[in-house]
Amino acid sequence: MPQPKYARESLTTMTEMVLPNDTNTLNNLMGGRLLHWMDICAAIAAQKHSNRIVVTASVDNVSFSVPIKLGNIVTMQAKVTRGFNSSMEVNIEVWAEDIPAGTRVSTNRAFYTFVAVDQNGRPIEVPPVIPETDAEKDLYTSALRRRQLRLVLAGRMKPQEAKELRALFGVTDEG
Ligand SMILES: CC(C)(COP(=O)(O)OP(=O)(O)OC[C@H]1O[C@@H](n2cnc3c(N)ncnc32)[C@H](O)[C@@H]1OP(=O)(O)O)[C@@H](O)C(=O)NCCC(=O)NCCS
Repeated sequence: MPQPKYARESLTTMTEMVLPNDTNTLNNLMGGRLLHWMDICAAIAAQKHSNRIVVTASVDNVSFSVPIKLGNIVTMQAKVTRGFNSSMEVNIEVWAEDIPAGTRVSTNRAFYTFVAVDQNGRPIEVPPVIPETDAEKDLYTSALRRRQLRLVLAGRMKPQEAKELRALFGVTDEG
């Protein structure tokens, strides 16, 4: 198994300015453009952690509750929360800044899953993550539940095999 790595080693920050070609007719950043930027930022974090080529396996739900305006500065920060076998979960947070107005708001957050692959595109082992801060430790622990939930939703795990989720909902073997 590859040597464990600290979560902080994968920290990746990416900054973009919202230009006219990034917006819809209301002059707000298009959701698809933001997802594209987030995918790149999160993929770089996953590459830093695994030192491998990575592919996006899934993205958990992303809400667009705050519009990001033309001219805003978008900052994304991504970090690997946990490595499993060949897959890694990446937490990404997004902020929008209006520099002339002096405002900065948190706009989005998502969990991406990336799989490290070899030169033939086959999944390959990734290093375990060493969490250090309280936030990193919380994300590390809860990553197992999120993994089980997304694998159940993707039809890759039977609900009865999702032990962490069963424990969370107080379900025992008796039902
Ligand atoms: C992701 C991919 C490599 C998985 O390949 P596979 O043959 O299904 O491999 P496995 O069944 O061995 O799964 C490999 C890992 O992917 C994870 N995985 C697969 N589908 C997943 C999903 N929907 N959500 C989260 N993790 C997933 C598995 O849990 C496994 O993780 P682990 O090794 O840490 O336990 C393959 O499906 C693929 O290449 N997909 C296309 C990726 C791509 O093109 N992304 C860009 C999309 S625009």
